[in-house]
Amino acid sequence: MDSVKHEKRIDPWGTADIDDYRNLFDEFGIKPFDKFREKLSDSRYIRRGIVFGHRDFERIMECIEGNKKFVMMTGLMPSGKFHLGHKIVADQIIWYQGIGAEIFLCSADLEAYAVRGIDLETARRITIDEYLTNYVALGLTKKNLTFWFQSDYVVPYYRFRDMLTRKVTLNELKAIYGSLTPGKILSVLTQSADILHPQLPEFLGATPTVVPVGTDQDPHMRLTRDLAARFQSEFKLILPSSTYHKFMRGLQGGKMSSSEPKSYIALTDDPEVVMKKIMNSKTGGRATIREHREKGGIPERCMVYDLFLYHLIDDDEELENIYRDCRSGDNVCGECKAVCSEIMIKFLKEHQRRRKRSERIVEKILEK
Ligand code: TRP
Ligand code: SF4
Repeated sequence: MDSVKHEKRIDPWGTADIDDYRNLFDEFGIKPFDKFREKLSDSRYIRRGIVFGHRDFERIMECIEGNKKFVMMTGLMPSGKFHLGHKIVADQIIWYQGIGAEIFLCSADLEAYAVRGIDLETARRITIDEYLTNYVALGLTKKNLTFWFQSDYVVPYYRFRDMLTRKVTLNELKAIYGSLTPGKILSVLTQSADILHPQLPEFLGATPTVVPVGTDQDPHMRLTRDLAARFQSEFKLILPSSTYHKFMRGLQGGKMSSSEPKSYIALTDDPEVVMKKIMNSKTGGRATIREHREKGGIPERCMVYDLFLYHLIDDDEELENIYRDCRSGDNVCGECKAVCSEIMIKFLKEHQRRRKRSERIVEKILEK
């Protein structure tokens, strides 16, 4: 079973930084993603090791290579602005849609209501204006897509969620999550239903499923996989696979957080504001230009470099040049930030134009 008691807990509702990704391999049984990198190198996040870990991804790789049906399921948390951190998930969903996966995507509006104090009306608005509209502008279509709100879906899903209660104990949940509230318990079970219900007879039946998430969601994956195993005699459920991606750091260092506008770039941010945010970002540059020219910068510590790496530069050679010119001191931060702003603003302007044309597709996605 995956969900044994661990000394160090991952808290899906907390803000704890998980700085040492390596730890996750030894402690929680997440496996390195390296061996799939080459075969799936058309995904920038996979190619660059931003998707760094997995559980049972072999099963999904087999489906991709054998052209077999599989599900990609994930959930969005409708709180706050849609920023570049969220784009990492969006791009992956779109990539999976592109390679033919059945996409199951939910808005965790019930979780937002139960544990984050967001009312359902607000959660719905954020889901549509922030998430769906940006997803579509980034390339999501209606093809093979099932979208639902946790608060407004179909009976077999709720029935299955409630049935899950039979095979989980309070002590087990406490061991995984620490302190619990009824709202958290409900959210946890709903999330397991999110992930497993595509495999119910009313939907697709047993189908390999992959859930791309940040590591904060891994406790849910462990529990869901255990639950899937426990329901074998009633439903044939294949244990869901998962992948884990790194989070982007905030522009000022620290965490990228929806409650701290200076820490992120929202996809609806004004170009002027974006320019300022980039100019004020933490870099890996030296204290003086002279020292920088002599010793070179440290791109690994630079948030501007992260923007290139995660989002702005698709061409690996071009990225390598930026890296090298930073290291050697040939690039200085002022100029580098100006280049970054220019590319970012161009991207955002185009994106914001595409948002305006997304409305009809969003409506279609919301149709039942
Ligand atoms: N709990 C997730 C979050 O806080 C949202 C979520 C709900 C989710 N259901 C899911 C994520 C299913 C992955 C799979 O972001
Ligand atoms: Fe970052 Fe560019 Fe400065 Fe290097 S030169 S530290 S990449 S801003």
